[in-house]
Amino acid sequence: MNIKEFMAQDHKDCDRLFSKAENAVAGGDWAAASQSFNAFVDAMERHLGVEEEALFPAFEQETGILTGPTEMMRMEHQQMRTLFAEMGEALQQKNTDDYLGTAETLLIMMQQHNMKEEQILYNIMSQRLPEDANQWLEKFHNWEKR
Ligand SMILES: [Fe+2]
Repeated sequence: MNIKEFMAQDHKDCDRLFSKAENAVAGGDWAAASQSFNAFVDAMERHLGVEEEALFPAFEQETGILTGPTEMMRMEHQQMRTLFAEMGEALQQKNTDDYLGTAETLLIMMQQHNMKEEQILYNIMSQRLPEDANQWLEKFHNWEKR
């Protein structure tokens, strides 16, 4: 599996947790919603963290491109984190409308963001990053939140 394949797969895994949480909120099952939401945020934080702390710096070093795509992606990650916080708040207040409204905004943002990564950034990474894919996969699996 190359970088693009496992990172794109991880997008799908995160999306599945997102849907699980959304369905639980829509069904009024707050305990399940909370569990799935936490699993979603943990999975996203790992994904974003691996990118920000390992993949993006390697891309920047290899290509010499320090502003532009990675800078834009980092900014979008921060916007997503703001929405995670808002969704967490809505969940605590058991506010279905707030949760679903913010989740909708996040979903659109994630779809556009993930598409840019999968169509552009991950392709360049797969071609240009010097370490072999297994090493990157290992880094991904062993990544721990700081
Ligand atoms: Fe990203």
